[in-house]
Amino acid sequence: MSGSHAPDDLAERLERRWAIVASVISAALIAAAAFAGIHQATMPQSRVEMVDPTTLHLNGEFIETNLGSALQPDGSVMVRVVGQQYSFTPQCILVPTQTPITFRATSADVIHGFLIEGTNVNTMLVPGFVSTATTRFDQPGERHMPCHEYCSIGHEGMWAIVRIIDKAQFTRMAADRRRLDCVKQ
Ligand code: CUA
Repeated sequence: MSGSHAPDDLAERLERRWAIVASVISAALIAAAAFAGIHQATMPQSRVEMVDPTTLHLNGEFIETNLGSALQPDGSVMVRVVGQQYSFTPQCILVPTQTPITFRATSADVIHGFLIEGTNVNTMLVPGFVSTATTRFDQPGERHMPCHEYCSIGHEGMWAIVRIIDKAQFTRMAADRRRLDCVKQ
């Protein structure tokens, strides 16, 4: 009787072994997601906001005069950005050090990537939707902001610069201008 069970025992052993392997893989994936979410502050968006990509330039928060960096009453900075084939507006984004920076961005045409090197900002700009991301910069300097979603032939040339300046200097500049970008620096 026990002899006839041998193939079943083997199958059960293999099943158990595979269940352990699968559990370890699942645990590793959960650990990776937790590391990205908690340690690197990479979060999916908390809500879905929609915007009409065909009227971005005509009305609403993404009209050209409303793009760039603005100091908020709570001391944080809000940056509005539009991506289109094949550039970002503004082309150079001015932000202060040691300040919470929230980006609100969208696309006027196709899907673009939105990534600031060396930060937790890494998302997509999808026409019809507003993408948000929050980060902060400790040191002055410049970061590249390349489009990292293939968006047709000009994709390789689509990038912007984030210029980080001293917080006191930014605050002085913000005192007499509502929107800041590198051009008016
Ligand atoms: Cu825009 Cu690639």
